[in-house]
Amino acid sequence: MIKTDICDLLGIEYPVLQGGMAWVSNASLASAVSNAGGLGIIAAMNSNGEQLRSEIQKTREMTAKPFGVNVMLMSPFAEEVASVIAEEKIPVVTTGAGNPSRFIPLWKDAGTKIIPVIPSCALARMVEKRGADAVIAEGSESGGHVGELTTMALVPQVCDAVKIPVIAAGGIADGRGMAAVFMLGAVGIQMGTRFLVARECTIHQNYKNKILAAKDIDTILTGKRLGHPVRCLKKSGVKIITRKGIRYHRFKRGTRIYGNRGAQTRGS
Ligand SMILES: Cc1cc2nc3c(=O)[nH]c(=O)nc-3n(C[C@H](O)[C@H](O)[C@H](O)COP(=O)(O)O)c2cc1C
Repeated sequence: MIKTDICDLLGIEYPVLQGGMAWVSNASLASAVSNAGGLGIIAAMNSNGEQLRSEIQKTREMTAKPFGVNVMLMSPFAEEVASVIAEEKIPVVTTGAGNPSRFIPLWKDAGTKIIPVIPSCALARMVEKRGADAVIAEGSESGGHVGELTTMALVPQVCDAVKIPVIAAGGIADGRGMAAVFMLGAVGIQMGTRFLVARECTIHQNYKNKILAAKDIDTILTGKRLGHPVRCLKKSGVKIITRKGIRYHRFKRGTRIYGNRGAQTRGS
């Protein structure tokens, strides 16, 4: 297995990151990936500081290897979780959905390596200037919230735009995808969807089955009109939202899906 600068930077054996996934990547999945030699990442999603601290403690009981925390910058608890990450001296932080510049000094002081997920060269350059250690260039093939550019178009441009290491994400699920993005200049990969079906991933088996059964055209982008595109499985709830363009829908069983959030994690 190939070793790159990312392995030395993060203290891992393989240049493979498991992407932070809201409602999915908890202590069980993150510790399993770290124990296997990659970098497991707990999703802070919209947890408050103490909920995150408890997940960090659980992860530490399950692995002695480095692991990371992913901060959703849109979370109302972003400040709180940023402080917990510094207090707990988490080795690596990744950030999604925005510009993490305001937290960079705090995390630098704690010795945390900072790896923002970026959808464009402009944001890659900005976070490099502010002190990011690497970036994750995530293309729109990715599950969850996505940007405009595809992995194939984004990764080489980001590699040319910055000097820090570039990790590629979006639509990578095996060694072929990894080899392809290495040819584009990346020195590591982040995968999300592939890890959903791992034994150690605690999502429901029905959700895993839907992922495994999904074919080439079975995902859809929702939320483009609202400015927050999300790639999710094309299931019945998602079809209603995209067809009617409604902000929420009350299902017969009483389940609520607000806007485009939630549908991706329920596999509905
Ligand atoms: C169910 C799900 C939830 C996700 N939640 C987050 C999140 O909370 N924060 C984040 O930065 N990225 C999130 N992502 C993106 C992943 O971290 C990763 O970058 C992406 O899944 C890579 O693309 P792939 O799914 O094609 O492997 C999520 C992805 C999925 C599939």
